[in-house]
Amino acid sequence: MAKTKANVAVLVSGGGTNLQAIIDAEKAGIITSGTIKLVISNNESAYALQRAKDAGIASEVVLRKVTGSQAAFEKKLMETLAAYEIDLIVLAGFMTILTADFTSHYKNRIINVHPSLIPSFCGQGFYGLKVHEEALKKGVKVTGATVHFVNEIPDGGEIILQKAVDVLDGDTPETLQKRVMEEAEWKLLPAAVEMVSAKIIAE
Ligand code: GAR
Repeated sequence: MAKTKANVAVLVSGGGTNLQAIIDAEKAGIITSGTIKLVISNNESAYALQRAKDAGIASEVVLRKVTGSQAAFEKKLMETLAAYEIDLIVLAGFMTILTADFTSHYKNRIINVHPSLIPSFCGQGFYGLKVHEEALKKGVKVTGATVHFVNEIPDGGEIILQKAVDVLDGDTPETLQKRVMEEAEWKLLPAAVEMVSAKIIAE
């Protein structure tokens, strides 16, 4: 029998506001084709873990310093994902680059939210606040967010959704980050989770 919902894992490293947006969207019925089964953090003190707990979602911590090599870290991630029968992996502020060994196992099954309009301000070294610092340094008048599939090229996979956000006079990296999250990331990511989950269950 076909699945009615895709099992979703959300991978996090920090505050988890994007995780929260997905949790809230599932509760609000905006996400109906997927369900969050698991949160994985590579940082034991990530506030995102508290958000998972508050929502009654299972969580696992996988630490590079415990597993050792990148290969062992990725193997542990894969075992954990398999144990929960995960269909869709969502990178929501997951601050580590996954190698081709990992991504090749999950073609069109990993999505990521990035806080710029790819191909601007993306790739290795562009993450979190740094992205907004660089956008302000360049003086762009419009930035935004992108949700894309993850492949072996950092921020290089097929684009799923994008939304533009104005840069305003007097913006700091922090004010710009907040506006990009509120106006773009927290809307795009749940919408993309629903779109990709719907495709998965229709297969
Ligand atoms: C978000 O802005 C996300 O787009 C960014 O980190 C922040 C995580 O916030 N991700 C990247 O820069 C990935 N390259 P959150 O933990 O509150 O969701």
